[in-house]
Amino acid sequence: MRIGTPLSPSATKVMLLGAGELGKEVVIELQRLGVETIAVDRYANAPAQQVAHRGHVIDMTDGRAVRDVILKERPHLVVPEIEAIATDELVKIEAEGIARVIPTATAVHTTMNRERIRRLAAEELKLPTSPYAFSSSLAELEAAVARIGFPCFVKPVMSSSGKGQSKIRDVAGIAKAWDYALSAGRVKQPRVIVEGEIRFDFEITLLTVRHVGGTAFCDPVGHVQIDGDYVESWQPQPMSAAALERSRTIAKKITDALGGAGIFGVELFVKGDEVWFSEVSPRPHDTGLVTIVSQHQSEFALHARAILGLSVDISLRTPAASAVIYGGKDAKGIAFDGVDEALSVAGTELRLFGKPEAFKKRRMGVALARASDTDTARANAKRAASLVKPVER
Ligand SMILES: Nc1ncnc2c1ncn2[C@@H]1O[C@H](COP(=O)(O)OP(=O)(O)OP(=O)(O)O)[C@@H](O)[C@H]1O
Ligand SMILES: [Mg+2]
Repeated sequence: MRIGTPLSPSATKVMLLGAGELGKEVVIELQRLGVETIAVDRYANAPAQQVAHRGHVIDMTDGRAVRDVILKERPHLVVPEIEAIATDELVKIEAEGIARVIPTATAVHTTMNRERIRRLAAEELKLPTSPYAFSSSLAELEAAVARIGFPCFVKPVMSSSGKGQSKIRDVAGIAKAWDYALSAGRVKQPRVIVEGEIRFDFEITLLTVRHVGGTAFCDPVGHVQIDGDYVESWQPQPMSAAALERSRTIAKKITDALGGAGIFGVELFVKGDEVWFSEVSPRPHDTGLVTIVSQHQSEFALHARAILGLSVDISLRTPAASAVIYGGKDAKGIAFDGVDEALSVAGTELRLFGKPEAFKKRRMGVALARASDTDTARANAKRAASLVKPVER
């Protein structure tokens, strides 16, 4: 792709739908390449809006509003950064030739719904997954759980970051899980997936880039999740040659099926040489924040380059880790103490996202650490994160 001059008639324009911390890093990488950037979110001063040329505030689940902002700005590329978007409207916009959606409109439409992506992965592509069933009522859920057994996970088919998700261990937990899923699902008609538990040794995100020259795999990112939310990650995660080979085969199949250009976060469970597909993000992955320090080109730089049709370099620079910094309290315009102490920990960097409002469990920043091995990097990242103290002004 030819790249123009921002804010001129030749500009190459990219619009992000969703302007969080991952979008912020993507915008920074696009800015470096002289791309004109427009960041859209449901609230003002979202992280990526603070570094983009322009921002818009709309309800991204409203198809009309999504179409209007795209027609107003006429971006060459539309880059969804989150799942909660009117993706059916994106499918129409792409079909009408108004803009290219990254990686493709169908890919974002498929992956935002756990039923669509699970059926594609397990039933069409025959990838190994946890046993699963879908339910649209409490009675159906009870029957599904009886088939799948305990422990199992109940998740709304449309939700992310662990919202509405529970692990149930006995019959008493079923009704509670149903109510909880209803409270967090994004749609009027309730529907959940029940998944049998995979007793994995560890889980990874295999960052997979579809680019002009083919498909490339970053080193596996290991991570720890608490209540469906990532708290720390590291790269590389050691694994057997057979498991790595299987992981790449799964990632290649699912990303080929989704198509388009850009980075994908393929989430996999690993036990010995065995690998199960869990889910996939057709965009940078939160656990991949570690790549800011661990790779020559971060997942955000890789995404920017791949969507522009440029070549990529997925090579590892150094072992590294990331640890999340939470708000710790509900407050607007909080401040952070201890930044200097955190940055005094060897080999560390920080990203403070600049979110205008903090919640107790909202991700407000991340500590990054490089070291000669991932154990040291993890310890240093966690230490640096713990030294950053959110305070009310
Ligand atoms: N079937 C399963 N077996 C074992 N662990 C699971 C299973 N499903 C989910 N988990 C655990 O819960 C975590 C979150 O699940 P999942 O990725 O499906 O939710 P999510 O809401 O999409 O989270 P995120 O948006 O942060 O990726 C997984 O990374 C894993 O640690
Ligand atoms: Mg996940």
